[in-house]
Amino acid sequence: MATELTQSQLDAYWMPFTANRQFKRDPRIITAADGCYFTDAEGRKVFDGLSGLWTCGLGHKVEAISRAIAEQVKTLDYSPAFQYGHPKAFELAERITEFMPEHLNRVFFCDSGSEAADTALKIARGYWRKAGRPEKTRLVGRAKGYHGVNFGGISVGGIGANRAIFGEGVAADHLRHTWLTDNYFSRGQPDHGAELADELVEILMLHDASNVAAVIVEPLAGSAGVFPPPKGYLQRLRDICTANDVLLIFDEVICAFGRMGARTGSEAFGVVPDMMTIAKQVTNGAVPMGAVIVKQSIHDCFMDTDAPDYVLEMPHGYTYSAHPLACAAGLASLDVLERDAVIERVREMSAAFEDAIHSLANCPHVLDIRNYGLAGGLTLESYPGEPLRRPFEVAMDLWNKGFYVRYGGDTVQLGPPFVASRDEISSLVDALGESLTSNAR
Ligand SMILES: Cc1ncc(COP(=O)(O)O)c(C=O)c1O
Repeated sequence: MATELTQSQLDAYWMPFTANRQFKRDPRIITAADGCYFTDAEGRKVFDGLSGLWTCGLGHKVEAISRAIAEQVKTLDYSPAFQYGHPKAFELAERITEFMPEHLNRVFFCDSGSEAADTALKIARGYWRKAGRPEKTRLVGRAKGYHGVNFGGISVGGIGANRAIFGEGVAADHLRHTWLTDNYFSRGQPDHGAELADELVEILMLHDASNVAAVIVEPLAGSAGVFPPPKGYLQRLRDICTANDVLLIFDEVICAFGRMGARTGSEAFGVVPDMMTIAKQVTNGAVPMGAVIVKQSIHDCFMDTDAPDYVLEMPHGYTYSAHPLACAAGLASLDVLERDAVIERVREMSAAFEDAIHSLANCPHVLDIRNYGLAGGLTLESYPGEPLRRPFEVAMDLWNKGFYVRYGGDTVQLGPPFVASRDEISSLVDALGESLTSNAR
């Protein structure tokens, strides 16, 4: 092991979403990053095939973002989030709304995607109570959905392994996932499955819509393995929610700010939710930040109260909500996104990425390939009884070849930086093809 770390340092850190025992036997230590590449502890350059964790679409160490953070820390390192404000929080809130669909124009800041999901669920329940319908509390998510790891998020989330050992959560129902065999190897949005949205009607009949607060879905399910929505599916969810007075929440922690080749997943798929959660790309991953953006009518319902004006309208928030460093990073990131016409670039690169990833269709063990924008996922045939093993082996082989990708469940996921070149995308996909082929057992 060519790192300076001692065994006791390695032992002291209980790593998140990591196979700790394996990692500590064979550590993968990243010491620096620049552009589309990491440097590891052995001095190797490793291509960042997932933009960090879907965070760093603009690449690493973007000069304008680093400078904004450095200047901010010299001026205002921290400002209390409750009852006091600092200018950049308001500037960033307004700036974010410029990327949102019309009518989503009130921004509640938090520090992560998980916090954004739980915040959105709480706003939904609070909204109905303020609107005089306190019985509307039930929440609906979807199988294969990922909404972070807090109790609300795992309750509506649909990845079994993330829920299995944590006991009771919040009462929630789940729509079926949209992964259909008829759709295998679809390019972009699959043709089949719009009717799966009609399951929501049945859930609403079961509980009565008068008891249901909100439905939360990722427009494109990312963490479970990149599942673009079937054509017509999101619109159908929208129509059912509207007809039944149920709020529709889009979790756009991966989709928003460019990855779909649009400002948001909502824009890419042409459907407007009542609330949206964001995180990751808003600061290009440089400082943690999340947010919930709501329709003005939801916000105004909280403000429309007879209580004295010194009373809190919503007792919720985080010590680091709208942290000055995160706001500085957010403003700089959104500036770069616009200044360099990055979203247009993603749209242009998407076709090349689609062709590249689908060229792997005949590689050994590939069951399905999916893509949209600069997000791609492959489902791999499992070793008997060991669904997690092959993606792990493939990803480790890629790491040794100088490519970082995400592996989760029986999938491998690619999310190259928005600024990656065609050649870099081809090299990534070619390397994945070689790893799949050499894994052919
Ligand atoms: C759609 C979605 N929601 C929520 C989260 C959780 O975000 P965080 O890890 O910042 O809490 C993620 C993270 O991948 C995500 O993809």
